[in-house]
Amino acid sequence: MKLQPNAGELGVPLAKLAVDWCLLNKKVSTVILGASRPSQIIGNVKALDVLPKLTFEIRMAINDAVGDYSQSWIGNSPCHYEDKTPPQHEGKNMTTDAQIGARLAPLFNLTGKTAVVTGAAQGLGFDTSDLLAGLGAHVVMADLNLEAAKQAAAEVHTKGGSATPMQVDIGSLDSIQALFHEVTANLGEADILINSAADRSKAETFEMTEAQWDRMLDVTLRGTFYCSREAIRGMQAKGQGGAIVNISSVGAVRTTIWGINVHYDAAKAGIDSLTRSFAGEYGAGNIRVNSILPGGMASKGGANISSSYNIRGPIMGPGRVPLGRMGSTMEIAQAVVFLASPASSYITGQIIAVDGGFFVS
Ligand SMILES: NC(=O)c1ccc[n+]([C@@H]2O[C@H](COP(=O)([O-])OP(=O)(O)OC[C@H]3O[C@@H](n4cnc5c(N)ncnc54)[C@H](O)[C@@H]3O)[C@@H](O)[C@H]2O)c1
Repeated sequence: MKLQPNAGELGVPLAKLAVDWCLLNKKVSTVILGASRPSQIIGNVKALDVLPKLTFEIRMAINDAVGDYSQSWIGNSPCHYEDKTPPQHEGKNMTTDAQIGARLAPLFNLTGKTAVVTGAAQGLGFDTSDLLAGLGAHVVMADLNLEAAKQAAAEVHTKGGSATPMQVDIGSLDSIQALFHEVTANLGEADILINSAADRSKAETFEMTEAQWDRMLDVTLRGTFYCSREAIRGMQAKGQGGAIVNISSVGAVRTTIWGINVHYDAAKAGIDSLTRSFAGEYGAGNIRVNSILPGGMASKGGANISSSYNIRGPIMGPGRVPLGRMGSTMEIAQAVVFLASPASSYITGQIIAVDGGFFVS
């Protein structure tokens, strides 16, 4: 079999033929591991300069056929600097956006994946949904506020992303089960779950009612547990692994707003415990579970601290952060999406602060 140099126009069927040829000739391991050097891979096919030119679609087909997503693209890129001197500008290498994109695509491409994001109507949940959709996932934007979720999904659509708004109250098991039932029925099992919804209420310790404490724990901790359990059930049934990212808070480890957030901090600390437990329990099924601990973000939900509270300590503000500023929701979303993508394929059970350095201050 001979591949034509203009592989970009070959199409998926020919790529599959190439894979069959490799399997037949026991070249699979070289395809997998030596992908950065085309001359080592399919030299026998007289296609030394073909692999770098394969389109993304064809490379995905090879990937599917070889069946080892995590291994098959290590070091692979359509741009082979080993073979050519990169263009120079003022003594520095020039790398085009397209070259960078091609290199990163296998690490971040979420085409064909279904992601469920709770609390997706605004703030971090929205930015995370927007990024996931931009990377090819179909995103279920689930929120208590359905109207806001619809508007948010419409905004994702205008940027070319694919999103479905759905209503959920993560404080209710019935509502969570109805959500996942709808997702499975309409879109198939979820591959990715981002637990971003939380109760953001504040209450002074001696003023806190039983209902306030219970609602915080029901929504923020129990809701994360049940959403994760439903997602894991589906991921296990699908058998292709999955990624769960829990949105915790730096408050789970270090107090950010003394005196009015004890129920919230306790719930978030519980989430980190869930992260470790689930990572351990379901890692064998390649289901990865991690926590992101955002520092102070400039979001609508983050700005609801009334001056009437008796706060017994410093509120976390720019002065307590080495980088000297609050984070944006997009800066946190970038880390969340990393943990949801193949780029983080060997990371699980981790509690990662994205806090501008708050923990070292
Ligand atoms: N903003 C911050 O400074 C900050 C800091 C650390 C951690 N966090 C965490 O990040 C996450 C996102 O925070 P944000 O400030 O971007 O969001 P936000 O508070 O602005 O928005 C939260 C979204 O969750 C939805 N929601 C609330 N209760 C729900 C429920 N019971 N069921 C379903 N949806 C519900 C709301 O309708 C809203 O759209 C939260 O988990 C929050 O605890 C935020």
